[in-house]
Amino acid sequence: MARRKNALGLDIGSSSIKLVQLRETKKGIHLVNLSVANLPPEAIVDGALMNSSVIVETIREMTDKLKLKAKEVALSISGHSVIIKKIGLPAMTQDELDESIKWEAEQYIPFDVNDVYLDYQVLQSRPEQGQMDVLLVAAKREMVDEYAGIARDAGLDPVIVDVDCFTIQNTFETGYGFPPGETIVLIDIGAAMISINIVANGMTTFTRDINMGGNQYTEELRKRLGISHDQAESYKTGGQNADGVVPQEVDRILASVSENLANELHRSLDFYLATSSEGRVSRIYLSGGTAQVSSLAPTIESRVGVPVELLDPFKAINVDTKQFNLEFINRIRPGAAVAVGLALRGPNDR
Ligand SMILES: Nc1ncnc2c1ncn2[C@@H]1O[C@H](COP(=O)(O)OP(=O)(O)OP(=O)(O)O)[C@@H](O)[C@H]1O
Ligand SMILES: [Mg+2]
Repeated sequence: MARRKNALGLDIGSSSIKLVQLRETKKGIHLVNLSVANLPPEAIVDGALMNSSVIVETIREMTDKLKLKAKEVALSISGHSVIIKKIGLPAMTQDELDESIKWEAEQYIPFDVNDVYLDYQVLQSRPEQGQMDVLLVAAKREMVDEYAGIARDAGLDPVIVDVDCFTIQNTFETGYGFPPGETIVLIDIGAAMISINIVANGMTTFTRDINMGGNQYTEELRKRLGISHDQAESYKTGGQNADGVVPQEVDRILASVSENLANELHRSLDFYLATSSEGRVSRIYLSGGTAQVSSLAPTIESRVGVPVELLDPFKAINVDTKQFNLEFINRIRPGAAVAVGLALRGPNDR
């Protein structure tokens, strides 16, 4: 009878922290709170928290400003401390799997099995072959504990630690639903990280994180035009300089970086498509702040040869425009995919 209680969704990204609170009622899912705060450039490097105090302080300021009472929070990690693999195992019962997963996992992960948290899900059983497909997730304990520690230091109660690509899958499933029999690629392009998740028939079949993102544009503008980081960041997001002009080269430089990113994505997808028995990819959905670079989606579309669409994390969420400024929502819309996916989760989820 009671409505489902949602955890707060807290996405600690390398460029900004995104906080989302949702409420699920009989009438649908409603946006309750949304907040974004920038982090200084060196606070998080390759997913590692380099400046914990600034992150804790930033989260505190966000929750104070919103006067949040809720404490239970869902967090997410990504990058090289997380290994996600689809593995084939002999058919066995859940109990047998619980028992043996640690030993099975050992041969698939490059870390000591005692240094990771393991999770797994049976994707499908193939009784005719006496086999089953299992999705194995291993996350470095150090990394998970560090992120949870940050949340605790900020006065919150971490109840879920998820993985970026799965949170986006959750967001997509809620907003769009997975079309049966089709293969969809979800790509999140943040500031420092690209996360790819290929979902066939509603199930993850391949994931990869690449250490690239929007920083590539800023860096290239900075170098090629001999300008400051801040000026480069401003040109990238459509701003002008103090004289109200935008150098002609800006568009060309942005386009060349879009080419590089599209080539990288093409390589990753090609690798998957060459080794997989799964069907053709029918559509790519882009999220992350960098999805807003206008040349990026069309460049990926022509390079990969698959239609590309921007993912709208608020597609199935009621947003009261009296409470939320639409311009603000639009500015962070694609970048909110992880935080929304986290905020859709309840504290009692697995
Ligand atoms: N309008 C825009 N045009 C172009 N780029 C933008 C725009 N808005 C934001 N960005 C870029 O998007 C990136 C931030 O995206 P996002 O918030 O998804 O990253 P993050 O989660 O902080 O980082 P990561 O996931 O890589 O650790 C930054 O590089 C920022 O410059
Ligand atoms: Mg991110």
